[in-house]
Amino acid sequence: MFSRMDHIGVAVEDLDEAIALYTGSFGMPQAHRETVEAFGVEAVLLDVGESHVELLKPLTPDSGVGKFLAKNGPGLHHVAYGTDDIDAALDRVRAAGMKLIDEEPRTGIRNSRVAFLHPKSTGGVLTELVEAAH
Ligand code: CO
Repeated sequence: MFSRMDHIGVAVEDLDEAIALYTGSFGMPQAHRETVEAFGVEAVLLDVGESHVELLKPLTPDSGVGKFLAKNGPGLHHVAYGTDDIDAALDRVRAAGMKLIDEEPRTGIRNSRVAFLHPKSTGGVLTELVEAAH
């Protein structure tokens, strides 16, 4: 069902500081920066081979990431698995009885199609499915 580890999402309070950490200390190339209004975040992708780290800074405190930061502080927010067919993947996890946050895919960063699964059905790990734009 999954073809790759697509990215890990990291919630940050200061995007420039986080970029400096990942590009400087870890030497990861910055691949992309985008405001994703639908998710209420400014996001940055850094390359790790074929995978990415996705830095997420909330646009407002009442966004999902804003609430996460208020509750937990900065840190690991979600994991994202890549799939070539997100509709089939969603059908499969739905059939397996998993609780979905997104019943249908939404448009995510770089025009990908994404859907989140509820942490209650994934052992506490906020999990995202990603189908890259073709
Ligand atoms: Co993500």
